[in-house]
Amino acid sequence: MGIRIVGTGSYIPEKVLTNFDLQKMVDTSDEWIQVRTGIVERHIAPDDMCTGDMAVKAAEKALEAAGIDGSEISAVIVATTTPDYNFPNTASLVQRSIGAVSAFGFDISAACSGMIYSLELAYSLLLQKKYRYVLLCGAEKLSCITNWQDRNTCVLFGDGAGAVILGRDDSCDSGQIASDLHIDGNYREILQMPAGGSRNPASHETVEKRMHYIHMLGRETFKLAVNAMTGACRKVLADAGMEGSQVKLVIPHQANKRIIEAVAQRIGVQKEQVFINVNKYGNTSAASIAICIDEAFRGGLLRTGDVILLVAFGSGLTWGAQLLRA
Ligand code: COA
Repeated sequence: MGIRIVGTGSYIPEKVLTNFDLQKMVDTSDEWIQVRTGIVERHIAPDDMCTGDMAVKAAEKALEAAGIDGSEISAVIVATTTPDYNFPNTASLVQRSIGAVSAFGFDISAACSGMIYSLELAYSLLLQKKYRYVLLCGAEKLSCITNWQDRNTCVLFGDGAGAVILGRDDSCDSGQIASDLHIDGNYREILQMPAGGSRNPASHETVEKRMHYIHMLGRETFKLAVNAMTGACRKVLADAGMEGSQVKLVIPHQANKRIIEAVAQRIGVQKEQVFINVNKYGNTSAASIAICIDEAFRGGLLRTGDVILLVAFGSGLTWGAQLLRA
């Protein structure tokens, strides 16, 4: 029995914010941003569009690509760090909007590793005969938790959504080959939004102290990311008895081009095997891998049956890799 990617979609908001635009907002330069991160521009959602709205648009495209109706979806999983509300979950908006009347659904909070975690669950679910299709969305409106006065972080993030539908298909041998997932709470403080939850509920004070924004220690995050992502990639390749050269496409979480290149070099894959679009969108957290998968399929870089290596790292710390036959 195979489980394959039957459809993908993505949605990127129209408005572009370039490095030159940011130069007018904080003390930075296009050159600094490009050299340190590889980012040229990012997209920003309008005020009246939330994370769930973008997830719905991506999901609709994925359903169209799969040629199935929302009512055929068994489960809706939305990975996000910027849900529309604390509750109800964002999955319920997607479920209602696409008419997934037979589905159950939930959100996953694993920051930038959300899609890697979601895939683990989706593959497990689909081993049960009662589930046929699982819709995974990664969606973020990071612009609403970005401190536009902090040059250390505001140049890094962007908005967007991606969707992947996994389905059972008895006629193929696609599926999960190996996975390696982790969480380590010892570094919770290096990347977080300090207020808005039960630890520091919203108050005048939390707003004044700008605690509802992303707080990050960039250098520490960088080093931990390279090591963790490299380790996870090596583990799944070893478990599968494969070399990096046997992978059709490596799709890393798009946080920083230098992180991606450092990991690629350490796991022995060629530049041409690595998908990069961080230049166009910045870091879209849980959305980034789903957007990449969609662009890779639509751009003809990926086909059913190809071996792909997905790897991510994020707040938590959370990280992991998935080696899949698409
Ligand atoms: N423009 C200009 N200068 C900036 C700047 C900006 N946007 N942001 C920071 N700087 C300055 C710093 O203040 C620092 O100045 P100082 O030396 O006078 O203190 C200097 O640039 C170097 O900062 P440093 O933190 O060493 O740079 P870096 O090479 O580590 O790059 C990041 C910074 C954030 C790009 C990099 O650390 C990174 O990408 N980290 C990982 C972030 C990430 O992936 N987060 C999400 C994980 S999912």
